[in-house]
Amino acid sequence: MSNNVKTTNRETFSGRRAFILAAIGSAVGLGNIWRFPYTAYENGGGAFIVPYIIALLTAGIPLLFLDYAIGHRHRGAAPLAFRRLHKNFEIFGWWQVLVNVIIGIYYAVVLGWAASYTYFSINGAWGDKPIDFFVGEFLKMGDIAQGVSFEFVGMVVGPLIAVWLVALGVLALGVQKGIAKSSSILMPLLVVMFVILVISALLLPGASKGLDALFTPNWEKLSDPSVWIAAYGQIFFSLSICFGIMITYASYLKKDSDLTGSGLVVGFANSSFELLAGIGVFAALGFMAAASGQQVHEVAKGGIGLAFFAFPTIINNAPFGPLLGVLFFGSLTFAALTSFISVIEVIIASVQDKLRLGRVTSTFVVGIPMMILSVSLFGTTTGLPMLDVMDKFVNYFGIVAVAFCSLVIIVSNEKLGLLGNHINKTSSFKVGFVWRLCIVITTGILAFMLFSEGAKVFREGYEGYPNWFVNTFGWGMAISLVVVAFLLTHLPWKNEEKFVEEAE
Ligand code: ALA
Repeated sequence: MSNNVKTTNRETFSGRRAFILAAIGSAVGLGNIWRFPYTAYENGGGAFIVPYIIALLTAGIPLLFLDYAIGHRHRGAAPLAFRRLHKNFEIFGWWQVLVNVIIGIYYAVVLGWAASYTYFSINGAWGDKPIDFFVGEFLKMGDIAQGVSFEFVGMVVGPLIAVWLVALGVLALGVQKGIAKSSSILMPLLVVMFVILVISALLLPGASKGLDALFTPNWEKLSDPSVWIAAYGQIFFSLSICFGIMITYASYLKKDSDLTGSGLVVGFANSSFELLAGIGVFAALGFMAAASGQQVHEVAKGGIGLAFFAFPTIINNAPFGPLLGVLFFGSLTFAALTSFISVIEVIIASVQDKLRLGRVTSTFVVGIPMMILSVSLFGTTTGLPMLDVMDKFVNYFGIVAVAFCSLVIIVSNEKLGLLGNHINKTSSFKVGFVWRLCIVITTGILAFMLFSEGAKVFREGYEGYPNWFVNTFGWGMAISLVVVAFLLTHLPWKNEEKFVEEAE
């Protein structure tokens, strides 16, 4: 990077440990605990490990290095870093930022639910019928086929505002005192709680049935392209790559940091946590199946169904149920909180770069409108279907789409050599031809994912939701991200000459 780039006053992590903990805090989240176990089970069980490891080694880790290189070399959140990489690339940075806006507004809701359920584990608020409680009493969900209603739901809104305020409080404290400090407390706590949870789950009667169900390989599944798409999708979301987070965090690393060494630690720690979550969740589901005289496939669920239907039932029946509940929902809360903080940091840092605002001002300029949006959309009786549609669309037509387009412009403008050289200057593990090849191949795989998922959703719609609903909150949202990114790119930078331009 040329020396005439002004990087004055950029905050930094105090050192490698602080960065690694914050990056693991970002990576380990809902994706690990509630998405991975069921995704693995549904897509070949033990056989899923093959596409998963291939996706991790050929796409996850190489793209993690690429994100680090972009952020570290150009010392900016995604829009500034892309802008410094090439003056026409800024739009891809904003597109990534906007993906975080969508993820942020719904991630907070699940985080709020998890925090509430930590408390419900103690007072048993869900009673004997956790599904009825979740959908009816807790979410007061309307029937979307009868039309949507946006009535606020008090039990959801209160905790939702609370998690926003906690996260904004942490973010206002800054990179080291806020983000790094909170991760350095929450990550070790999370690991201890989760390990106790997994050991307790393994001791439950029927646990081995669950593990058999998870790990029995179904090799035939590997010929199904959707299994491979699931593996790549899991890696992108779970590692927090290609949507600006790792670019932003790497921009806070000191100059002579070992990028690849840290990347390997983060990548393998994230996958180890995922595997641990798979074991814990399926051991508990094995117990649930045995206790109710059912087969594991009848009780296995992912996502919302796993956390808010299956786990409360397990907690109702297991010895020391409330303790298991506090461990499970507490872990979910801590894991989601550190990821949520990283998602919102991308937006705050981008606004800070563009408008040269102070940290606290920027936190509230971003945080308060987002909190209002999050509460208005998801704190209502239509929150759950909206979350379902937005989560699906932002993953495939947000993350995968922006990842594909960003890689195409980086590769076609021959920026890989430059970024690879930057990595090699300070890193212990050097990258070269194989790294570049992995990125080129991944670009092709992303194109395949995008078009095959796009065609499927066009053909079949999504989960039976009315077309207008999917068109507005799914396709409409995904397309508007590009339009708004275009507009933000044309907003002038404050002190552009001083801070933004870089001599190539
Ligand atoms: N990487 C975060 C997760 O897995 C976003 O939830």
